[in-house]
Amino acid sequence: MSTTELVNSANIVEERGERNTRRAFLAAAGAAGLCYTAALAYPIYRYLASPEEMALSATAVTEVTLKDAQKLPAGSVLMYKFGTRPAMLIHHADGRWISMTAVCTHLGCTVQYEPQADRVHCACHGGVYNAYTGANVSGPPPKPLTIYKVAVGDADVTVSRA
Ligand code: FES
Repeated sequence: MSTTELVNSANIVEERGERNTRRAFLAAAGAAGLCYTAALAYPIYRYLASPEEMALSATAVTEVTLKDAQKLPAGSVLMYKFGTRPAMLIHHADGRWISMTAVCTHLGCTVQYEPQADRVHCACHGGVYNAYTGANVSGPPPKPLTIYKVAVGDADVTVSRA
């Protein structure tokens, strides 16, 4: 092989090396771009899709079993999730068991049972609900809280859609 041929073949190898390096760089840049796009798109997808998903999963669940909830002392409350939404199981001082959603019908804050006042209160804007019926009593809430059926067993409490 002559010197010229050797130089030419070295140039070809060098060009191929550059092409490979360029290709590798473009592939890495493309992969990074995809990752970046996915990182940006996923939160947007979750934001847009979550109300629909939440509604679907909220309606899909019809019954929740709360293990050992029958031990809940009278005059106290157990917060739990009915599907994806917060809910309350209230064991009233008079022995009645009441369960209702814990999502305020005004703007969706989580409400709380106040045993000393025997009422359900929303701290966001002062909404008050009846702790037995879920009826909106005062403040801005436009609708009552949804009541669930309660079945107290020996080892658990089952709550289901009324
Ligand atoms: S969100 Fe409950 S009173 Fe406004």
